[in-house]
Amino acid sequence: MTLNVSQAELSSLEALLLNISGNVPLHNRFRALFTLKALKSDEAVRIISKGFQDPSALLKHELAYCLGQMKNSVALSTLESVLANEEEDPMVRHEAAEAMGAISSASSLPILRKYLSDFNRSVRETCEIALAKIEWDRSEEGQRHHAHTTTEPQTYTSVDPAPPTSGLLAGRPTTVTDSSVEELRSKLLDTQLPLFERYRAMFALRNIGSPAAVDALAAGFSDDSALFKHEIAFVFGQLLSPHAVPALLRVLQNQQEADMVRHEAAEALGGIATPEVLPYLKEYMAREDAPVAVRESCQIAMDMYEYENSNQFQYANGIEVVR
Ligand SMILES: [Fe+2]
Ligand SMILES: [Fe+2]
Repeated sequence: MTLNVSQAELSSLEALLLNISGNVPLHNRFRALFTLKALKSDEAVRIISKGFQDPSALLKHELAYCLGQMKNSVALSTLESVLANEEEDPMVRHEAAEAMGAISSASSLPILRKYLSDFNRSVRETCEIALAKIEWDRSEEGQRHHAHTTTEPQTYTSVDPAPPTSGLLAGRPTTVTDSSVEELRSKLLDTQLPLFERYRAMFALRNIGSPAAVDALAAGFSDDSALFKHEIAFVFGQLLSPHAVPALLRVLQNQQEADMVRHEAAEALGGIATPEVLPYLKEYMAREDAPVAVRESCQIAMDMYEYENSNQFQYANGIEVVR
């Protein structure tokens, strides 16, 4: 998609994203971000890169995510400094490393190798997966997969941290048997396997998307890696299956669970937004004992819900907002 915007429109998107006036609500800043993301231009990358001075970890992790999805190597130097900043929130650093995996430049290999021994487990694990992805993208299977995904329409257009398990690469497979779900479930849950292989099973299950596949994914919430669990919640946010609601609500309500996982569950619930979900989002949006990232996610989720349920299109400065 190519969108043409004027310099004046870019400047007002920048002012919204960076909250220049000091009173832009967070959800409007997110909308400006999604518009900039859709533009994909170098200028949009530069504007998004200016946002990392913000106090909101939620906003900053989304900036990093969007930079990765834009697949523009202009973002790499910013992403590298975010990963290298050990004072930064681990959720933001994780997203910077993952974005490097999405952009998949060989020039990111040294820094990703360096942070394989980071003090934070989520950061270490993300570097491991991003390194495996960059390598896989260069493999024969990876090359074939990319040729396919550029010519065939895809159900999920996101750049994922790992491709689906081999044999299930071509989007939604035509024949999915109970045993393939069962096999993927055991791969997903096998803590002896490299995380990259477990992620591949996760994305294969997402592409299958049946209630059995959702149950298999939900079983992943008993893992002890916060990174792994947050990705399960993220995938539920893409699947939008009401069947995932009970598992997601358990995660949202679990005070022992990592902020990153609960935040991702809140976002997924916001996307699903069936009537039984809304009271929980409203509750956690206002709960003083909930982590900031969880409260903010619920706020964004409620905004997304209102957006999707308003009949008219909403525009940020004349440009349709696309997530
Ligand atoms: Fe993430
Ligand atoms: Fe997130």
